[in-house]
Amino acid sequence: MRTQVGIVGGGPAGLLLSHLLHRQGIDSVIVERRSRAYVEGRIRAGVLEQGTVDLLAETGLGARMAREGLVHGGIEIAIDGARHRIDLAALTGKSVTVYGQTEVTKDLIEARLAAGGTIVYEADEVSVHGFDSDTPSIRWRTADGPQELHCDFIAGCDGFHGVCRPSVPAGRIRTYERVYPFGWLGILSQTEPVSDELIYASHDRGFALASMRSHALSRYYIQCDLDVKLDDWPDERIWDELKTRLGPEAAATIETGPSIEKSVAPLRSFVAEPMRFGRMFLAGDAAHIVPPTGAKGLNLAVADVRVLAEAFAEHFRDGSSAGIDSYSERALKRVWKAQRFSWWFSAQLHRYDGAEPFARRLQLAELDYLTGSEAASHAFAENYVGLPFG
Ligand code: APR
Ligand code: PHB
Repeated sequence: MRTQVGIVGGGPAGLLLSHLLHRQGIDSVIVERRSRAYVEGRIRAGVLEQGTVDLLAETGLGARMAREGLVHGGIEIAIDGARHRIDLAALTGKSVTVYGQTEVTKDLIEARLAAGGTIVYEADEVSVHGFDSDTPSIRWRTADGPQELHCDFIAGCDGFHGVCRPSVPAGRIRTYERVYPFGWLGILSQTEPVSDELIYASHDRGFALASMRSHALSRYYIQCDLDVKLDDWPDERIWDELKTRLGPEAAATIETGPSIEKSVAPLRSFVAEPMRFGRMFLAGDAAHIVPPTGAKGLNLAVADVRVLAEAFAEHFRDGSSAGIDSYSERALKRVWKAQRFSWWFSAQLHRYDGAEPFARRLQLAELDYLTGSEAASHAFAENYVGLPFG
């Protein structure tokens, strides 16, 4: 098998890259470890920046998103139960769209397959070869035996636990990491969202987030210990905790019901530098992770592949290596902006066990400044709705 760009990983980064390349007349093949059903069933975050929405719409992926996505012109921050609104639209002229990453993924898969794209699912023992030569390849195994895909370039879109990043010799990659001493316990429930907009809550007992997927499907999170056992958190206990952390107004009106999904996610900040190794390029979670607090993970992956697709197009169309040579630097500039924002927002909203009382008062002072100062709200809103594509 031969293609121009061999893509490892069929999450949003790999799928969107393949879609953008196809629109530029560039051929690609996606090699994905899991099944299509597994990829489509994964529940992930759900807030799209305006730039992400615009890109998806401009490239023919906007129809269902326009029908089912919820446009939000603001978010709320609850500080020990007192709610403050940040008017994103008034401050920036932009808004965000609540549309699950799961739905973006389904739309992308459908578009790729409708256009005759190749996605290899359930590929075992995927490995990458020769990215320092002119003849890179991707190998894997299926029930039919060993397979090999020869390509001009490899795109490592295989997420944080993928195979591409670990294939780089240790001396050529530098990683930066921060792990947080807590996780998020998330539930999905077929209940009406407690508010029209998202509520991010900072409470003495810990962080909480009221989010949604539709007018009838709510997504809630509470900060939890990393060694939490789901058996210790029956739905009733989660609802009680949400009521406390979101505050009395939300507690009085929140609709509770059985959870239809319940899971725990750790929080991590991680960056690998550079994002290019010869003829292999990393994009999305394969290169960086942000804690979910700022909802930047998917949006960063989209920003990466937008730049990468342009770079490949310059190569194949114009024979220029300028885009390829500047990809890592351009992508990392945005990555670090998102890292700063996601770290900062996480640090203000979560409870740090064992921290001195001064630290909590500083958090409250930061949040008071954020919600009370137009300059601070403006800077926050610019980051939340998404920086322009550079
Ligand atoms: N070989 C082939 N595919 C692999 C391998 C491998 N060795 N390892 C992982 N994969 C696949 C995963 O099964 C997954 O489908 O790569 C894909 C990576 O997808 P994501 O983890 O979703 O990462 P990415 O596409 O970069 O999406 C960005 O934004 O909201 C965040 O973390 C969230 O997934 C989200 C991300
Ligand atoms: C979600 O709806 O899953 C969600 C929303 C906002 C975040 C993180 C997750 O910051």
